[in-house]
Amino acid sequence: MRIGVIGAGVISKTYLENLTSFPDVTVTAIGDLRPESAKARAEEFGIATHGSVEVVLANDEVDLVVNLTIPAAHADVARAAVAAGKHVWNEKPLTMELDQARALLDEATAAGVRVGCAPDTVLGSGWQEVRRIIERGDIGQPLTALTLFQSPGPDLWHPNPDFLFAAGGGPLLDIAPYYFTALVQLFGPITTVSGVGSTARERRQIIKGPRAGEMFDVTVPTHVGALLGFRDGGVAQSVFSFDSAVKRNQVEISGSEGTMLTSDPNTFGGEIKIIRPGGEYETVATAVEKSTRGTGVLDMVRSIAAGEDHRASGALAYHVLETMLAIEKNLGVRGPESPPPWRSRPCCPRTGIRWPPR
Ligand SMILES: NC(=O)c1ccc[n+]([C@@H]2O[C@H](COP(=O)([O-])OP(=O)(O)OC[C@H]3O[C@@H](n4cnc5c(N)ncnc54)[C@H](O)[C@@H]3O)[C@@H](O)[C@H]2O)c1
Repeated sequence: MRIGVIGAGVISKTYLENLTSFPDVTVTAIGDLRPESAKARAEEFGIATHGSVEVVLANDEVDLVVNLTIPAAHADVARAAVAAGKHVWNEKPLTMELDQARALLDEATAAGVRVGCAPDTVLGSGWQEVRRIIERGDIGQPLTALTLFQSPGPDLWHPNPDFLFAAGGGPLLDIAPYYFTALVQLFGPITTVSGVGSTARERRQIIKGPRAGEMFDVTVPTHVGALLGFRDGGVAQSVFSFDSAVKRNQVEISGSEGTMLTSDPNTFGGEIKIIRPGGEYETVATAVEKSTRGTGVLDMVRSIAAGEDHRASGALAYHVLETMLAIEKNLGVRGPESPPPWRSRPCCPRTGIRWPPR
């Protein structure tokens, strides 16, 4: 199958390294709002055609569009790809709003094309191994989960980090897809949510790249705590933070007979340990670390050829999106009002302490 990439930024490099090495696919075109970025990637990876978004969409030699634009463009680019009769793989989040996602999925069904969506880390050797061990019964019946993602934030390393601190970004919409998708794979659909959020700084600074030193506004909470209840009985607690000096990615699944410290579903591999009550952690598997970003596209291509459902589907991403938006609504951050309620609400009315501190 012939692939056209739209969005030639940071993550396109990893995708192209992998997509140009899979025997089943050929990357025939790449486009970007900034055609010079597309040109640079085309030269790096030997892609025949490059230029604007139209260069990809109007191209008869593109069967599937890999949409690696920023979240604010995900819906428009994906719907345009579907309108051009192409299958589409989106980076996460699927779209920014639920009605955009619904429209995308409906339009794809009507056009007879497929929608797939990141993350595909859950198809990596790490999470697949976690599933294999849990399905084998090694921790008994999985009952609860704890997921932690704490970091100082992507403003430390990303050359254009503003979109990661605006609507469609923040640790919730940017990071939770990895963890929620992984949890849904183990526990089934999420039916109840609640959350709390805060923000440490209203403005941040770009540290790396040509824009280093530039300040930008933070318009979403940068620390979110979420509680999830699953339809089939499990419960989970999650923290997603860009406000911590600590870097910690951790997932624990507790079952009726033990607790598993899993590999990180934000990556493709890692160590898996199990501890039983009163015992010590025991390493039960070490999964290959190699980034296989693009596996979801490959699975989609092979599933289309076989007439089967692909695994990192638009429907799964829709469920994860509705979960995240429900949490965000619970935090009281939706809507264009300024300042948003989460910024000015007193945390403790009697003492007058306000959070976050100015
Ligand atoms: N950077 C990472 O480590 C990483 C990891 C996993 C997933 N992602 C996801 O990948 C996506 C892209 O992230 P990135 O880090 O590569 O961002 P980036 O800012 O480096 O690149 C985005 C590219 O999209 C282009 N673009 C923006 N709007 C467009 C439009 N309307 N039409 C065409 N092109 C447009 C920009 O010009 C830019 O070249 C995001 O959804 C992000 O969540 C990023």
